[in-house]
Amino acid sequence: MNYYVSTAPRPAAPAPDAPVRRGSDAHCVLFCRTMLDTHDPYRPALIDWPVLDEATRHRIVSLPIWDSAVATEGRAGMNVKTYAEGIGEPLLRDAVEMNAFEESRHKIVLADMVKFYGIELATEPAYERPRDPEFAFMRTGYSECIDSFFGFGLFKIAKDSGFFPEELVDTFEPVMREEGRHILFFVNWVAWWRRNMPFWRRPWFELKVLAVWFFLIWERIDMAKGMGANSKAQENNFTLNGSKELGVEVSFPELAAICLAENDRRLAPYDPRLMRPRFVPGAMRLALRLMGRRTVAA
Ligand SMILES: [Fe+2]
Ligand SMILES: [Fe+2]
Repeated sequence: MNYYVSTAPRPAAPAPDAPVRRGSDAHCVLFCRTMLDTHDPYRPALIDWPVLDEATRHRIVSLPIWDSAVATEGRAGMNVKTYAEGIGEPLLRDAVEMNAFEESRHKIVLADMVKFYGIELATEPAYERPRDPEFAFMRTGYSECIDSFFGFGLFKIAKDSGFFPEELVDTFEPVMREEGRHILFFVNWVAWWRRNMPFWRRPWFELKVLAVWFFLIWERIDMAKGMGANSKAQENNFTLNGSKELGVEVSFPELAAICLAENDRRLAPYDPRLMRPRFVPGAMRLALRLMGRRTVAA
């Protein structure tokens, strides 16, 4: 599996003590270099899937997430790749291509795991090239901002409760780390692109941002409404309902606190001059406050 790399020399990341203004060239270099320089070149073909005892295997196989996980990664790969193809600036294109490569690799890791443990998948949907690559890139980016936030917390619960055996936790850790890098890259790209697009495009872009959020919120409300009505909706609703599936009863404030702490921990290693996703963590902190709870990570 290979990925596109431009032949242009890559500009060096700004010095660690240099100020980086949001929207500046240095900002773009910093978030692109962070994506490229922290890439983990593991090869899915070399993953040695741990042999699990039958009870553990059955628990993993029964999780109602695998169809939607494979489809989400497949769509993400297509959306990000299509957007990358239209970028003229070599460093930014390399970084977005890397993002696309990693999404496709996630899909291979999952498909490999599914095969190894004998998980039966529904027929995979066809991944069509999006008509508006920028909108598709934003749909994937904002969707990852929501799903990774809850995914980080659920992964921690699955790990601590022993639901996921340690060997499997180790195997999926690079995937979780990559999703953290992706949302970090995405929110910085949004901030940078907002300040660098021609001014006449800005209103249209903001409308697209709104449309993406409406779409994602509507999609999740629709899933919540369909909960229990059919297995597909249940499956898509896993990020909202996941702790029960993991056999652990966690209240909403507890889950929100775990997700917030994990989100902060996973994004902590990266350059402090880069922006962090704010919307979902902010909404969770607000929800906790409204529920009269004090957050663990204010
Ligand atoms: Fe992914
Ligand atoms: Fe991702």
